[in-house]
Amino acid sequence: MSTFYVANDHAGLQLKAEVAQYLSSAGHTVIDLGTNSPASTDYPDYAKALADRVAAEPGAFGVLVCGTGQGMAMAANRVHGVRAAVCSDTFSARATRQHNNANVLCLGQRVVGVGLALDIVNVFATTAFEGGRHAARIAKFDPS
Ligand code: RB5
Repeated sequence: MSTFYVANDHAGLQLKAEVAQYLSSAGHTVIDLGTNSPASTDYPDYAKALADRVAAEPGAFGVLVCGTGQGMAMAANRVHGVRAAVCSDTFSARATRQHNNANVLCLGQRVVGVGLALDIVNVFATTAFEGGRHAARIAKFDPS
């Protein structure tokens, strides 16, 4: 089981709650960095807070939810050591774990329904990085 940080802006509030509940039920440790208010907020603040925690804790993962997932991914990827991927399908979620060793999953509450989103989370949380040639490629943009 892993540690999953979760965070969201106002446009990701409901889906974040579903994701947190799902991951917790699956046995993971879930740390919620907010927001837990429907008031309008700025997604980069939450992306940065989560990305800093994931980058500082090898083996930890993150799930960021906003309206589209896109802004969260852009902001999170500015933090060294974070590899954030927007996924709206399970194929991408599997591939980004196997090939990119993604450690942050970004979801769009305005893009995917809850059922699909939880399938994506399940695939992301249960798929291992393949290493090998993929590790050498990652090292080209994300040296340790
Ligand atoms: C908020 O309206 C929206 O812009 C934000 O949640 C996100 O989709 C940005 O990428």
